[in-house]
Amino acid sequence: MSDLHPLLAFRWSPRAFDPAARLTDADVACLLEAARWAPSAGNRQPWRFRLGHRDDETGKRILVNLPAQDQRWARHASALLVGAHTGPDGSAERRAYDLGQAVAHLTVQATALGLYVRQLVSFDRAGLTADLDLPADVRPMVVAAVGRLGDPHALPPDLLTRETGLRHRHPLPALLLT
Ligand SMILES: Cc1cc2nc3c(=O)[nH]c(=O)nc-3n(C[C@H](O)[C@H](O)[C@H](O)COP(=O)(O)O)c2cc1C
Repeated sequence: MSDLHPLLAFRWSPRAFDPAARLTDADVACLLEAARWAPSAGNRQPWRFRLGHRDDETGKRILVNLPAQDQRWARHASALLVGAHTGPDGSAERRAYDLGQAVAHLTVQATALGLYVRQLVSFDRAGLTADLDLPADVRPMVVAAVGRLGDPHALPPDLLTRETGLRHRHPLPALLLT
């Protein structure tokens, strides 16, 4: 890790969010700006976002479509950001790849702002689409919980164990195809 830029080295995905922290309009604008400048195939920029704050109607509509076990921690995040892609049929895989890059940029920018992000891909897509009244050609792929770091001891015991455990990665040689 020693040669990594601190923004990458210090990024991680907590479940313990500060339930009192709020995102400012400037935070939100900066996060979305980071996503906006991500590269994409043919510069098509297929990503679309919908942001709900913890206590607003949109935030509540996003939260109820997450698995119950994830709602336990996600409800404390300052905001829940739905990442979706849109575009012609047949290019969904490429659009999903582009969306992932945009969200990756956003997570790095979040780290620069002292914010943390935990992404989720397991949620009720049909329910979220209906509850947010998303257009038919917009496919939600990810919900990103965004906020300030909270007290891990406020988590349920099973999540505390996972929160404080060591993070693991494959060794570098395992990434290289031979
Ligand atoms: C595309 C994507 C989907 C994820 N889905 C979930 C999820 O459904 N539930 C969850 O708790 N974490 C989810 N995560 C968080 C990962 O578990 C986490 O990024 C991974 O364990 C690596 O940990 P780190 O981000 O702290 O380095 C997801 C992350 C990504 C990038």
